[in-house]
Amino acid sequence: MAHQFTLKAEDAHRLAAHYPTPLYLYDEAIIHQKIDELQSLQGDWELNLRFAMKACPTAGILQVMRQRGVQIDAGSYYEVLRAQNAGYDLQEIQLTSQELPPLPELLRLIEGGMLFTACSLRQLEVYAESGCQKPIGVRFNTGIRAGEFNRTSVAGKSSSFGIWHEKISEVLSIVERSGLHIAQLHQHVGVGVDLEIWPDSVRKIFELAKQFPEVRRINLGGGLKVSRTGAEPEVCLVELQSIVANAFNDYATHAKHQPIIEFEPGTFLLAHAGAVLTRVTDIVDTGEDGYTFLKVDSGMTDILRPMMYGAQHPITHLSVRADHDMPEKSYVVVGHCCESGDVFTVRKGDPEELSPLRFHEVLPGDFLLIGGAGAYCSSMSAAHYNSYPRSAEVLRTRDGEWKLIRKREAPEEVWKDELL
Ligand SMILES: Cc1ncc(COP(=O)(O)O)c(C=O)c1O
Repeated sequence: MAHQFTLKAEDAHRLAAHYPTPLYLYDEAIIHQKIDELQSLQGDWELNLRFAMKACPTAGILQVMRQRGVQIDAGSYYEVLRAQNAGYDLQEIQLTSQELPPLPELLRLIEGGMLFTACSLRQLEVYAESGCQKPIGVRFNTGIRAGEFNRTSVAGKSSSFGIWHEKISEVLSIVERSGLHIAQLHQHVGVGVDLEIWPDSVRKIFELAKQFPEVRRINLGGGLKVSRTGAEPEVCLVELQSIVANAFNDYATHAKHQPIIEFEPGTFLLAHAGAVLTRVTDIVDTGEDGYTFLKVDSGMTDILRPMMYGAQHPITHLSVRADHDMPEKSYVVVGHCCESGDVFTVRKGDPEELSPLRFHEVLPGDFLLIGGAGAYCSSMSAAHYNSYPRSAEVLRTRDGEWKLIRKREAPEEVWKDELL
């Protein structure tokens, strides 16, 4: 299994003495390792890497990406502003969004160097009517449905992301009518995409690109699959590189320009690099034939994925007790919200079903480390439900230092914008 965030029980105690749990933890060395691994997607093309910042937009993480030359895919106008706040220049940012900012603001960003990827015919029309001549990108829905869970598929008939591939003639007529310059074609089919899906989806976007003679970049999106619990195979980058090489070689024989190839993963870069440290606050059981529940001081307010998708995260019991070789028992790990769905140990793909884990005896006060929590956790939590403040985030630097990259919210910050 891939290199994952780990923590010794003694370190958990030391950390929790400084920062209250729950606490997001990230490992800078793992992020660097993941960026290094992605370089193997290089071929006879120039490779450009972006980070889908929706996965983890905290400035301290974006700064690690920027130091390594990893650019940004922003999923909203606000992410563009946030990336700029972390130090990114507009020239390093691409906007691929379901919703656009007001036109004058969009044009200001494009004039400043941001790459705009039109994600619908309407977005393309609005841009065309503005008269701006800066080259842009177009995102297609290639019709290929993929993703680890139904809700992480963002292509195919039941998905609204990108322009449906059969509408290419409408795209071409807008382009021709308005003299638009389409410099990039883009696709992103889902999060957690199986390798079997890639050949068709890559081939399809290269096929579409043949209709756009000015295209200089082909962006193949994110979706590089990781296995948080080790139960499934991860994406094989060697195979993915050869899938891209086949499509690229075929395309390059027809095209005037050799395109830059872009990938913009979120999960692959961050999932294994992060974890949430949480403390067991209570233990209850529902009698014979029932369950034993570990109540922890974290929950959907830090990690929503189990509740939203039926996603499973690896959970480790960190104990410094000498009796740690007690027999194992089954436990259901539940969050601190007044919500019966706030459960960490669910059946894969089915948040309605419990799937207990086995640990040596756990006592109140013990720590659990919830792994695979670097991507789509701090960015996608149900923060503020039950008025819990946002948790702090700490980065273990490559020197082994713990660096606070986001403070824990003070309780008053939860209601600070309310008017009495
Ligand atoms: C446009 C776009 N690019 C990239 C990504 C990153 O996907 P992943 O985290 O699977 O790499 C997403 C995530 O949904 C996305 O919407």
